[in-house]
Amino acid sequence: MDEPIIVGIDIGTSKICTLVARVEEEKHLRILGVGIEPSQGLRKGTVVDLNAAALAVSRSIDKAERTSGFEINAALVSLAGSHVSSMNSRGVVGITGGIVDQDDIERALDAAQAVAIPHNREIIHVIQRGFIIDGQDGIRTPIGMHGYRLEVEAHIITASASTVENLRQCVGASGIEVTQFVLNPLASGEVVLSETERQMGVAVVDIGGGTTDMAIYIDGDVWHTMVLAVGGNHVTSDIAHGLRLPISQAEEVKLKFGYALQSGINPEEQFTVRSFGGDSPERINRADLVNIIEARMEEIFYLVLQEIRRSGYDGLLPAGVVLTGGPRIPIFFISRSSLMI
Ligand SMILES: Nc1ncnc2c1ncn2[C@@H]1O[C@H](COP(=O)(O)OP(=O)(O)OP(=O)(O)O)[C@@H](O)[C@H]1O
Ligand SMILES: [Mg+2]
Repeated sequence: MDEPIIVGIDIGTSKICTLVARVEEEKHLRILGVGIEPSQGLRKGTVVDLNAAALAVSRSIDKAERTSGFEINAALVSLAGSHVSSMNSRGVVGITGGIVDQDDIERALDAAQAVAIPHNREIIHVIQRGFIIDGQDGIRTPIGMHGYRLEVEAHIITASASTVENLRQCVGASGIEVTQFVLNPLASGEVVLSETERQMGVAVVDIGGGTTDMAIYIDGDVWHTMVLAVGGNHVTSDIAHGLRLPISQAEEVKLKFGYALQSGINPEEQFTVRSFGGDSPERINRADLVNIIEARMEEIFYLVLQEIRRSGYDGLLPAGVVLTGGPRIPIFFISRSSLMI
């Protein structure tokens, strides 16, 4: 019973998911409770209506408390949105006593963070990518090694301070303290990627409702992260416009008849819907629906590919791209598929 309990809240644009888990043995998690609720008051990863968002979060928390039987006081909370940005930085320090210890590493990481970060940005993660001792690079665990000069290569992720504060307040309204914010693509990467993929070089792309998040892993570590303000909701609104349907119906049609490739469907196929206030059902060519979906998905993948190229790591991803996100199912049934670029 004294094993630690971890609570995670994923505040998405489509759904809010609270998970209560017990840490068993070595890093093994047992899910004790889940609370999934439709999201409100959020757009593209940021809070646009504090009260509505806080209410949706509290519903999800209540559900997780009821299913797990635990009272939640603190949680890890997901973060996404185009207000997140990342950069690589290097910190250099002299090694005290000639042998690297934890204190040297912390000083090097502090030095890496000493870059000019505007006061309206908050540091979310400082990820150590690798160390260099006296010019020798590729060092993973420097503790105990001899040398004079220690350099750390760090990946620093920052977010808009006000957006982060709004999220904190949103969760705080339920009496919950945020122990740490976790960037969405990092959380996805931890869950869906294998250690081998992370070592080989891989990109994980999480296509959500309002955002598409990406993280690039090389040599086992995160080298690049980004959040695009486009996702499945854009597909739905394209369908609503293109086929002149209410959003809720466009979403239903997407899930029921949607496909992302023209070449994969029978061009003769049709389905029926009831349009705006209409009494009689209307027949729609499935090819028209798929055309709309294909165009938007092509755009999303194009933006992802452009970002991979811009990162400069496009030649370093032999494990390809792993896709996740979407279906409204608890996180332990992970949806995942991979493709090569
Ligand atoms: N079976 C499916 N096929 C295609 N799209 C789906 C399917 N199920 C859900 N989706 C779409 O996935 C999107 C929601 O994804 P997800 O639940 O990962 O979003 P989120 O985490 O709430 O949002 P975000 O991460 O953008 O803040 C919606 O646009 C939904 O229509
Ligand atoms: Mg999400």
